[in-house]
Amino acid sequence: MQLTLEMGAERLDIRWPDGTEGQFPYIWLRDTDPAGFHPLTGERAFDLTSVPLDIAPTSAEVDGADLLLQWPEQTQASRFALDWLWTHRPGVGRADPADLVPTLWRAEAGAAGVPRVSAKAMADSEDVFASWLRVTKQYGLSIIEGLADDTGAGKEIGRRIGHLRETNFGLGFEVETKPDPNNLAYTADALPLHTDLPNQEVPPGFQFLHCLANEAKGGGSTFCDGRAVAEDLRRTDPEAFAVLTTVTVPFRFHDAQTDLRSRKPVIVLDEKGAVSEICFNAHLADILDLPADQMIEFYRAYRVFMQMMRGDEYTISLKLNAGEMVVFNNRAVLHGRASFDPSTGYRHLHGFYVDRGEWDSRLRVMARA
Ligand code: OGA
Ligand code: ZN
Repeated sequence: MQLTLEMGAERLDIRWPDGTEGQFPYIWLRDTDPAGFHPLTGERAFDLTSVPLDIAPTSAEVDGADLLLQWPEQTQASRFALDWLWTHRPGVGRADPADLVPTLWRAEAGAAGVPRVSAKAMADSEDVFASWLRVTKQYGLSIIEGLADDTGAGKEIGRRIGHLRETNFGLGFEVETKPDPNNLAYTADALPLHTDLPNQEVPPGFQFLHCLANEAKGGGSTFCDGRAVAEDLRRTDPEAFAVLTTVTVPFRFHDAQTDLRSRKPVIVLDEKGAVSEICFNAHLADILDLPADQMIEFYRAYRVFMQMMRGDEYTISLKLNAGEMVVFNNRAVLHGRASFDPSTGYRHLHGFYVDRGEWDSRLRVMARA
């Protein structure tokens, strides 16, 4: 079969020899002309409003492996590689190496199911590092073993991904008992399953907790894949699911310096309706301000979600050892810890965050041939 071009009133249709058909609105072709992008930065320099919406080329022809389009207002024809047009034909999403299907997990996967990698293997190999990035994004949780006894050792891995996410708790934070705590994490109390900082406009993406000491009695960690809970709830209790995806909870953190507030639904969906995020933090939930006649319905749904995530079906438990760093998608996987007795030994985790965009950027750059 021959490659054919068909010029319509508003668009050019291309049929490739392999039978693929692409429909290219003229305004899209004009806006996407390779000559309209800055030669050094690759950013679009073309001003869309400089041409009319109903612009149409005066001619379209194939020149070797390229398509040439002549526009009424331009002396120079636009040159598109036909292969490039095939890849970018409208309606076909752009390929994205960071677009990975999540691997949902439940309690039966156990602590043994958590992907583990050695810090040394990661330091020695770009492939091991890239594969760890992919697995951690999919599973939402992993543990790095064999880190040096130094808070910089964990952060070095974070910086290899991208910029660290600074918050009101700093660029990193020390999770240990403090004399005047502004956060329950800085006490010896139990922390029920939660996601960190849903009170922020954009909650931190990936959380890192590098364990430097865990000698006190207690202090075990719990994790739960909130995406699995939400997907199961969608089937088992669609009404509760509907409430938790639409009603926004007010979250708030305040201390002497800050008063950070944001509203979020407990289950956030993406534009395709898939569960993209979980925002749950009982200690940062502010005074619930729903109209009274919606309260009971909301509390019912909220409690169903809480009971599910804490139940035997979803929660895994493990105790971090010094030299291990747990890494998890804070916007999908909930974490918690058991109380501990500081008189029986020292416990110290060093925490920091890397946002999801930084993670995806590193995945894409590493996937470049
Ligand atoms: C935290 C937290 C867990 C722990 O700092 O956000 O949840 O094990 N810590 O101390
Ligand atoms: Zn936390």
